[in-house]
Amino acid sequence: MKNTDHLPASPPLKPVLRSLQGHVLPHPPLWLMRQAGRYLPEYRQIRERAGSFLDLCLNPDLAAEVTLQPVRRFQMDAAILFADILLIPYGLGQGLRFVEGEGPRLAPIINWEGISILSVDQCRSKLSPVFETVRRVRAQMPEACTLIGFAGAPWTVATYMIEGGGSREFSQVKNFAYRNPDAFALLIDRLIASTADYLIAQAEAGAEVLMIFDSWAGVLAEPDFTRYVVTPTQRVIDQVKAKFPQIPFIGFPRGAGLLYPLYTAATGVDGIGLDTTVPVSFAAETLQPLATVQGNLDPEILRVGGTKMITETRRIISFLANRAHIFNLGHGIHKDTPPDHVAELVKVVRGG
Ligand code: CP3
Repeated sequence: MKNTDHLPASPPLKPVLRSLQGHVLPHPPLWLMRQAGRYLPEYRQIRERAGSFLDLCLNPDLAAEVTLQPVRRFQMDAAILFADILLIPYGLGQGLRFVEGEGPRLAPIINWEGISILSVDQCRSKLSPVFETVRRVRAQMPEACTLIGFAGAPWTVATYMIEGGGSREFSQVKNFAYRNPDAFALLIDRLIASTADYLIAQAEAGAEVLMIFDSWAGVLAEPDFTRYVVTPTQRVIDQVKAKFPQIPFIGFPRGAGLLYPLYTAATGVDGIGLDTTVPVSFAAETLQPLATVQGNLDPEILRVGGTKMITETRRIISFLANRAHIFNLGHGIHKDTPPDHVAELVKVVRGG
């Protein structure tokens, strides 16, 4: 008899958590970015009942339900909290609405004053329904499934706050940052403080992994990439880890290209999300020694399905099989994706 036999057995770690600790599993665990969403009929039904998209994000009952829909339908290894990266600007007091078929609209920030009125103090209480969603999801999740909380990175959220919505050229935000570096630094500081606090509250409510989406990391040259992408992300992670030293982070610096290794090493993320353009051979050689990699199937290939999807999925898995890998897409699932293609993908990833 071993002298530890009197201790209660600690529960076996869930696959996603094991993978983020660097373990190689027989099949990579899987989940998909934007796995809850309009491609699912059960989502569209709830979305209609909820009113606006923002109302849905702030309704714990319905947000918990849509978070769990893809987990129930496809037995995903992780659930990602149903929310949006633009809840932080809303929490800080910036006007936000989602226009059907067009995307988000914010009252653009044009000067120092617009930044100085943003209130970090009221953010946590305005976003309290999100933390209730986390508690409800945790209470209803299958045992082996991991709950991922998330936020947008300060840089990406700042682009929406200054552009007033999506952008192609990022002229407004770049002009603002390059002409008024002190004002932009104040905005980034407020985003660091509110984002760290928001993620801490998600962890307190039961999020087991935290992901940082930096969807527009790829539009900055190296010095500004370090200044506005790497350093703020590091500061958010440091502040959260001061309270939750063990909680794993996944970073997603979409479009970072040759700066992926710098980002991975400097931020110390446990997992690194690969966009569609990162070659898997490069990821295997250069990124996998630094962190668990997650990605990178093109969502358009999932939408197309069939042989192309099966071949590409097997190719990605074979390149990344020697070290820790979580299977995912290189960006969010497309709204016209047939759910059957997702079911087929799950089978292929699990070796079927
Ligand atoms: O399943 C999940 O991944 C969780 C939920 C989630 C949403 N948005 C729900 C959503 C997550 C993780 C996000 C992140 C997000 N939101 C990002 C980063 C990732 C990325 O896609 O680059 C960004 C840039 C946003 C901002 C945002 N939200 C945009 C640009 C849009 C409009 C685009 C669109 O597809 O209409 C949204 C809306 C949004 N967020 C939807 C969903 C399901 C669609 C709205 C609806 O159902 O009406």
